[in-house]
Amino acid sequence: MEKIAGCDVANLAKEYGTPLYILDIEAVRKVASDYLSIKNYYPNTRISYASKALSLTALYQVLDAEGIYFDVVSDGEFYSMLNAGVSAEKAYFHGNNKTIDEIKYALQKGVGVIVVDNVDELNTIHEVYSELRLSKKVTIMVRVAPEIEAHTHDFIRTGQRDSKFGVNLENVVGFVKETQKYPEFDFVGFHAHIGSQIFDTDPYHVIIDKLIDIAVDVKNNTGILASVIDIGGGIGIRYTEQDDPPSIREFVSSIAESMKLALKRVNFPIEPMLILEPGRSIVANAGSTVYSVGGIKEIVGLKNYISIDGGMADNPRPITYGAEYSAEIVNKPKKNLKKYSVAGKFCESGDILIKDIDLPEVHKGDLLIVHATGAYNYSMSSNYNRYRKPAMVFVEDSKSRLVLKRETLDDIVRNDIRI
Ligand SMILES: Cc1ncc(COP(=O)(O)O)c(C=O)c1O
Repeated sequence: MEKIAGCDVANLAKEYGTPLYILDIEAVRKVASDYLSIKNYYPNTRISYASKALSLTALYQVLDAEGIYFDVVSDGEFYSMLNAGVSAEKAYFHGNNKTIDEIKYALQKGVGVIVVDNVDELNTIHEVYSELRLSKKVTIMVRVAPEIEAHTHDFIRTGQRDSKFGVNLENVVGFVKETQKYPEFDFVGFHAHIGSQIFDTDPYHVIIDKLIDIAVDVKNNTGILASVIDIGGGIGIRYTEQDDPPSIREFVSSIAESMKLALKRVNFPIEPMLILEPGRSIVANAGSTVYSVGGIKEIVGLKNYISIDGGMADNPRPITYGAEYSAEIVNKPKKNLKKYSVAGKFCESGDILIKDIDLPEVHKGDLLIVHATGAYNYSMSSNYNRYRKPAMVFVEDSKSRLVLKRETLDDIVRNDIRI
């Protein structure tokens, strides 16, 4: 790979240094518009980007302009969204244990919707609301533990009864009744999230059916009609050749179809708003990380390591859960391939970014580009070993733009107090 969105990768590395996160904004816009194509089939849909995948002021700006809403799970993500100039009303505030400070901040700023996780949280939100003496109604939804677990290829229908998230099925009617104690709250509907890196669309059809059945049950028992059905995120992306996710356009058209069928099946009296909350699939494939190779270690007959100037601190996914990536050497044709393992620079022998990858002969000073690093890399990065987090550039139309400064040594000691 030599260019991304018309920008020469080697020139980017020279200009901004390495390691460098690169985000192809043309690709991000394309995925956003693929998601929004669902409106052709089911117009009353919102796409709410799960910003935990990559939370960054400039990215909120780009996606806001595309008509995307935002899931936030902390005051930090919410603050970043507001810092981007996005209206607070576009935020869906999730999380299984929002702190009192976070709830206060969200309410004061006029958050769009709070996705309530449990009855204790419902009561806490009300206490904070009363203390703040607010007058505007607060829109709330409930997170349901749907008892479906989906990961990658398979899913288990009763697998998640023990989930830490959400209200279990037998308690949903009771929860909705509780919400009626508080006339200041406007209860609008149900949310569920079934997993991540899912390649199969079947679990989504099951979850739609399940949430619609819940809505019917709640209506029959309480008279309250849900106007929102939120099926979470989780669709997978291609990290390596073995991964085979559906295209986003196919995925959303099948979701819309499934929603219409489910509503028809139970003769649901309205067309509720449908919400999708993709995170990874919006940004993962648009992202890459460029590293410089510092040296090569050949253990004859056993292994060849290439050492790079980053690793588990800028991409903790391989060491955390064995995530796999593909990579190339910039400006070197894929010929006379040799097996290498890509070693990070951090003080953990498990800090291997990629095990056994075929690359052309690698030399000190080469640039290694790792693909599909847009999601859960920067957002999960750390300062381990007092490492300075990398810079990020957006690339589009053959132009690059710095959107995240490389941390400095001063940044590293910013919060230290001398004694
Ligand atoms: C509630 C919720 N919505 C959406 C997402 C986004 O999932 P993904 O990045 O796999 O699309 C997550 C991820 O953990 C989540 O917890």
